[in-house]
Amino acid sequence: MQTEDGRRMERTKADWLERLEPHGQTHLLAFWNELNAAERERLTQQIEAIDFAELAGLVHGHDEAPDWPALAARATSPPAFRLNDEQPRFSADEARDAGETALRAGRVGMILVAGGQGTRLGFEHPKSMFAIGPVSGASLLQILTERLRAIGRRYGATIPMYMMTSPATHAETVAFTDEFARFGLPAEDFRLFCQGTMPAVDLEGRVLLAERDSLAIAPNGHGGMVEALGRSRCLADAQSRGIDILFYGQVDNPLLQVCDPTLIGYHLLARSEMTTQVVEKRYPLERVGNVVEIDGRVQIIEYSDLPNEAAELRDETGRLKLWAGNLAVHVFDVPFLERVIEHPESLPFHRARKKTPFLAADGTRVEPNEPNSIKFERFIFDLLPAANHAIVVEVDPAEAFAPVKNANDAETDTPRIAQAMMVALHRRWLREAGAEVPNDVPVEISPLWALDAEDCRRRGVAGTKFDEPTYLHE
Ligand code: UD1
Repeated sequence: MQTEDGRRMERTKADWLERLEPHGQTHLLAFWNELNAAERERLTQQIEAIDFAELAGLVHGHDEAPDWPALAARATSPPAFRLNDEQPRFSADEARDAGETALRAGRVGMILVAGGQGTRLGFEHPKSMFAIGPVSGASLLQILTERLRAIGRRYGATIPMYMMTSPATHAETVAFTDEFARFGLPAEDFRLFCQGTMPAVDLEGRVLLAERDSLAIAPNGHGGMVEALGRSRCLADAQSRGIDILFYGQVDNPLLQVCDPTLIGYHLLARSEMTTQVVEKRYPLERVGNVVEIDGRVQIIEYSDLPNEAAELRDETGRLKLWAGNLAVHVFDVPFLERVIEHPESLPFHRARKKTPFLAADGTRVEPNEPNSIKFERFIFDLLPAANHAIVVEVDPAEAFAPVKNANDAETDTPRIAQAMMVALHRRWLREAGAEVPNDVPVEISPLWALDAEDCRRRGVAGTKFDEPTYLHE
């Protein structure tokens, strides 16, 4: 609490108890008497940041959760530009031309979200730092940044990167990007902005303590981007550069087609406000969000919310009815973001049961084996129904989707699988350009060296034999 002359007014323990009591959260002061002034300050600042009434509503509002089975029953295939469309409204070539024109005109910026804690991967640092290059050992962030630079160079444009971190990843990301000089992006074209947090609560709704003087808080989901983009003035920065299109991607995909001109072009030609890149799901229960249309609006039903029976439905040709898997790649119109930024609270919170270590009332640290807490996250794709027009564009997963989610002992979405996909794609480019690459020789291509088979041909690889592990880079 501040007095008028700006000094912070001391609140007593009794004041704080009085404030916490109606919300059943007095346990947060369990260690108050052991804390020094700085620790009390830290704790009370975190408490002050919580809207307990909102939190109580979220904890107890179970019946307000969408009726997913009912929604899934009404869901149909979304309006999509599909691969091998026989009569598309716009051809892929037309789309690519439109996207290239927008890139050349400097109308495009990039948002990269990297605020997640990456718990499933079992990596102790921000995922952006994870070494994924199969030969180079380059980090996810290096690969994506080089791809952005390569696209900027190809189209003679400056494409700024707005990278979202969270309090969980911010400090390390700053140190990492400083150490590697932003992998070559000029400082003025690389902005980090930090998303907000939400407290983790136990199954009764009591906020968990992480330490005696701090709460268990977690990033508030990538939907936190909407509020953070406004607060950090990154959206204003983009506007001041004349950018009216923002490409959005996740840091966990080394095959991310950064600022893909074809995707951007479809977005422009179809006059979409929010476009989503999708893949055809390989099997019904694949762990990707399901992009569907419900009552004329495109939206995403997360894999964890889609009932199995709905996931397994097939059309008359035997293909999955709900086929469109979310890559978490979007194109946003800046005016659309400007509109939704006015109401960041309109994005709903999703509840997820997670394992959260905490400090018990007797001061012992508990590392739970079972989910013991509820975390609250906003999802960026919940903006889709708010878009006046939203389209979906299919892409070949072999060229665009190698998610890195789980440790190598898992069966899907592991670093090992992602690396194999990178090698397979780069080997294909080299072969198409006339090189000889045996199946058992790993090859990796830096985006600055080549973005596709055509670039490889221009690099003059025809006739070259790659008989040992090779990293092609500048
Ligand atoms: C996500 C999508 C899923 C999609 C899949 C594709 C959600 C809820 N689901 O699944 O539909 O098919 O990706 O790979 O998004 N992040 C933040 N801040 C946060 C939380 C996450 O920046 O507070 C970032 C992470 O750093 C990561 C990305 O968002 O880059 C994905 O988050 P994650 O929770 O791992 O989503 P998935 O379950 O993998």
